[in-house]
Amino acid sequence: MADLHIDFAGIKSKNPFWLASGPPTNTGYQVQRAFDAGWGGAVWKTLGDPVINVTSRFSGLNYGGQRVAGFNNIELITDRPLEVNLREIRETKRAYPDHAIIASLMVEPKQEKWHEIVKRVEDVGVDGLELNFGCPHGMAERGMGSASGQVPELVEKQTYWTKEAAETPVIVKLTPNITDITATAYAAAQGGADAISMINTINSLMGVDLDTWNTIPNVAGKGTHGGYCGPAVKPIALSMVAECATQPDIPVPISGIGGIENWQDAAEFMLMGASSVQVCTAAMHHGFRIVEDMIDGLNNYLDEKGLASVSDLVGRSVSKYKKWGDLDLNHKVVARINQDYCIHCNKCHIACEDAAHQCIEFYTESDGTRALKVREQDCVGCNLCSIVCPAEGAIDMIDQPSDVSMTWNERQRLISTFGG
Ligand SMILES: Cc1cc2nc3c(=O)[nH]c(=O)nc-3n(C[C@H](O)[C@H](O)[C@H](O)COP(=O)(O)O)c2cc1C
Repeated sequence: MADLHIDFAGIKSKNPFWLASGPPTNTGYQVQRAFDAGWGGAVWKTLGDPVINVTSRFSGLNYGGQRVAGFNNIELITDRPLEVNLREIRETKRAYPDHAIIASLMVEPKQEKWHEIVKRVEDVGVDGLELNFGCPHGMAERGMGSASGQVPELVEKQTYWTKEAAETPVIVKLTPNITDITATAYAAAQGGADAISMINTINSLMGVDLDTWNTIPNVAGKGTHGGYCGPAVKPIALSMVAECATQPDIPVPISGIGGIENWQDAAEFMLMGASSVQVCTAAMHHGFRIVEDMIDGLNNYLDEKGLASVSDLVGRSVSKYKKWGDLDLNHKVVARINQDYCIHCNKCHIACEDAAHQCIEFYTESDGTRALKVREQDCVGCNLCSIVCPAEGAIDMIDQPSDVSMTWNERQRLISTFGG
């Protein structure tokens, strides 16, 4: 069995699976049950000056047959008194000394506020701190959350203030509601962060009710923008992790968050550079026990790949993530239809005719049946036909080896040296 233990910026955990700050980490009762189920760590629901929450506050995006393909909320930070949270953190840490408890924090951008909250949560024995610079709603209107997290100077300054007071590792949780996440990740590293985590939720309005014309969700007929998360955001989160992991001037560990539901999602984040992962929506949708499959699946995968520990997996795909200008322009793939699996739905033909390069055509077989084939010399290898094809195995994308590779950047260098 591979070793799933991690040491994330000094925070030790028996596996890389942590619950993200949110509804599943709201109370000691929940966090203790999560630890019993197998979670290695939990980031407590964000502490700060307690707020009043509205109802209703969640909505789910059902797409096709899948419930909760996306999830949206207008919940704020904890609405429970700080003293109650601190007492429960202390009790939970005492009862589960081998599990990681990280306190998520959000206060006004004032030095004394950060110093005070850091001292109070460290007094009850947390293993680390996570600064919530991410919430896109409610707190942002008061200068906190993503309002702070979108300004690199504020991220750097508040990280610095936290580090002045902190004795445990400081993770800075970044907002995706920004043009370039590496700017704030860099600011966090400059401020002395021991690690970064991403992503918090994405600004969103889930929908509008066509009968009442109310927003979804709504509070007595009024709505506001909320934070989007769940499976739909995974590609966005993964690309942000990749952007940070490939930057040498952001030399801190990354905790990956966003749409993680199973061990495969987690492994992808780890390959792209995350050394721990956090889960919120999937635990809300399916319950704490999903972690059992995550642990078993990751263990088997590491064994299959001949890797002794999680840390052997982390970052293995980072060197494969490049700028567009470093991709080989001479590399070609073409589509090939496998007649044994084709169900003759013609979706590939329609897609290629209407939205690609018009290279899938009908022909008549010797027994008189009509079938489709790809005119390979005209196929640009865009993948659209294989994406829309509903029959597994009916369209393969075949590599066409080329002898010489040439990237856009190399091409431009040649042109500037020898002329066009
Ligand atoms: C209802 C809800 C409440 C949340 N509250 C917090 C919070 O208090 N602090 C925080 O840092 N993130 C909070 N989050 C964001 C999650 O921690 C996480 O970053 C985000 O949901 C993406 O992960 P997921 O796709 O696994 O849900 C909340 C998310 C949800 C759905």
